[in-house]
Amino acid sequence: MNEPLKIGLAGLGTVGRGVIRMIEGSNGEAIARKLGRPVQITSVTARDRTKDRGVDISSYQWFETPEALAKEADIDVFVELIGGENGPALEATKIALGRGLDVVTANKAMLAMHSVKLAILAEEKDAKLLFEAAIAGGIPIVKTLKESLSGNQIKRVYGILNGTCNYILTVMQNEGKPFDVILKAAQEEGYAEADPSFDIGGIDAAHKLALLTSLCFGTETSFKDVYIEGIEKITPEDITAVDDLGYRIKLLGVALKTDEGIEQRVHPTLVPKNSAIGQVSGVTNCVCVDGDFVGKVMQVGPGAGEGPTASSVVGDIIEAASKDQSPVFTLPAKELMTYQRAPIRAHEGGYYVRLSLCDRPGTFAAIANRMAEFGISLESIVQRHQGDKFNSQNEEKTEAPAPVVIITHNTTELAVSEALQAIEQDGHIIGQPNMIRIERL
Ligand code: HSE
Repeated sequence: MNEPLKIGLAGLGTVGRGVIRMIEGSNGEAIARKLGRPVQITSVTARDRTKDRGVDISSYQWFETPEALAKEADIDVFVELIGGENGPALEATKIALGRGLDVVTANKAMLAMHSVKLAILAEEKDAKLLFEAAIAGGIPIVKTLKESLSGNQIKRVYGILNGTCNYILTVMQNEGKPFDVILKAAQEEGYAEADPSFDIGGIDAAHKLALLTSLCFGTETSFKDVYIEGIEKITPEDITAVDDLGYRIKLLGVALKTDEGIEQRVHPTLVPKNSAIGQVSGVTNCVCVDGDFVGKVMQVGPGAGEGPTASSVVGDIIEAASKDQSPVFTLPAKELMTYQRAPIRAHEGGYYVRLSLCDRPGTFAAIANRMAEFGISLESIVQRHQGDKFNSQNEEKTEAPAPVVIITHNTTELAVSEALQAIEQDGHIIGQPNMIRIERL
């Protein structure tokens, strides 16, 4: 057998443990046969050396910091599983690439912010920077885009890129409970992080989308240009109303080319409930790619967790063992095109709008007129009668708000936001309208 491929592992959390189990277990022998050389973890680092992780790390050389490991360890591949946009993860990655070591990382936040600089460094040093685990955990979308689909012009990429949000929306759908109640239960059961703001606020999905955009369109990664809305404002009323109309609400990340530039957006989205993506439930992720020759391709699978994420990391370690050198993205990093942002106000699509109307003669017509004034054509408008309310003291009938749900034909974001502003100013509605974009599949 040839010399082993020596691995330095920075970060021994859930994914790090999975990588150790995969390489040290029976899969290790099969991998060695495929590669013609064993893969050997030689060096590790983490915050706490003594913590019981359920795996034996005593035979590995211990380093106090990721930077020290990246700088000094006798390794071929540096595996970064620390996380975080900056700090030790970024520093150690730069050091490792600077040494010409191949780097495998699961760190979407770091790459979303620094991928171009890191890719230039890697390519200058003839090193690989591999990140299959950074987008949708166990789903092999990076290799699919870089290899199998690389002859296509990609028109649109979209998907369910955050398992926590999909889990919460699925339970809201099944149990009819409000968002905050389900989030709390998910935290107690360990499905959601103690600080879930990156997940539910759409940031985590936006990190992944920014990387998918570069892979699909050959542009510089531009996280700051992703339009982001989280799922915090989705109510059980929205879930029920869209269900009646044949839709599901999903937090989608979508990137597409338009005449104005590239549109990148993460927001709650209506998709037909009988569509393949409408059926993706729980913590499962999916990525859909629309290519000019291949048509529509969809990959579905686990987006997080020890086994699935370790599977992608180890796949990248195996790729690092090959001599072939390919760009970090689909184009050499210095040739990635400047990102041109298509503003969200130019977005074209259908819209769901839920309003609470003052139930008086003429309000329904006034709403429809305002929509028409801004050139918005309505596909459906439904008033959900809640019955009259009576004042318990004197049995007088009082004005009950009437929930109205509107679905528009394709229009622009600008038209919808201006129409809703005018409707609010007219004083016909109670509270604020709730608007959700519809994705045509
Ligand atoms: N927290 C993410 C999710 C997984 O809920 O999908 C890691 O990005």
